[in-house]
Amino acid sequence: MEDEAVVRLNSVTKSYRLGSVSVRALTDVSVEVRRGDFVALAGPSGSGKTTLLNLIGCIDKPDSGRVAIGGVDVTDSPLHRLAGLRLNTLGFIFQTFNLVPVLTAYENVEYPLLMKNVPRRERDERVRRWLAKVDIEAQAKQRPDQLSGGQRQRVAIARAMAGDPKLVLADEPTANLDSETAARILDLLVEINRATGCTFVFSTHDTSLIARARRLLRIRDGRIVQHAPAGEVRQEEAFV
Ligand SMILES: Nc1ncnc2c1ncn2[C@@H]1O[C@H](COP(=O)(O)OP(=O)(O)OP(=O)(O)O)[C@@H](O)[C@H]1O
Ligand SMILES: [Mg+2]
Repeated sequence: MEDEAVVRLNSVTKSYRLGSVSVRALTDVSVEVRRGDFVALAGPSGSGKTTLLNLIGCIDKPDSGRVAIGGVDVTDSPLHRLAGLRLNTLGFIFQTFNLVPVLTAYENVEYPLLMKNVPRRERDERVRRWLAKVDIEAQAKQRPDQLSGGQRQRVAIARAMAGDPKLVLADEPTANLDSETAARILDLLVEINRATGCTFVFSTHDTSLIARARRLLRIRDGRIVQHAPAGEVRQEEAFV
């Protein structure tokens, strides 16, 4: 039977070297994310959220433990060998949007499809479809500096989704937005999750956003301290 876990981390440990000092970022982290899930990764600054997302996104490697993405154990594959997996299976959304400043909204969404050699007609169809879904059709020709923060993040969401990923990783996607825009961006991600069945993992400091997730992974000092359906988390427990 096909492995229903899109992400499986087994007893993962990760340290960073800072000069002669080793900084422990993750300790004995085991995580399973099931297909179609919508997971909030919540924890205070420095708790290891970005480190964990980087391991899941095959951007970095653990010191020990195993990492499997889409049922494939990637632990022993060098990072450059995983570029295809990143391009074809994963979508990334960042706190600072990370759009290419000299490209228009349309071209930003198109860019990863060019890298994937998607034929022109299909490329155009996918870009237009996703710009419409995130409600940025009218701004398609504008560059990022001509868009609001919320609009930029919508473009980044379209860019992540146009590649038809199985798993989208979003590192504090709403941290640079006001709370109302943040809630709307989260609603949009929830809607996309429901419509496409694509799996989402997003990190956040914001307790009001945890309630929108289906599952909560709470991390503290590099350890997972809670792994629960988000609905079961009482509000007073939700503070991170
Ligand atoms: N490149 C690095 N070199 C050295 N230490 C690092 C590096 N990246 C992260 N760390 C350390 O690892 C720990 C976890 O950092 P990480 O960035 O994963 O936390 P975070 O939960 O994403 O924090 P934030 O909410 O502020 O983004 C911290 O102690 C941090 O200082
Ligand atoms: Mg971080």
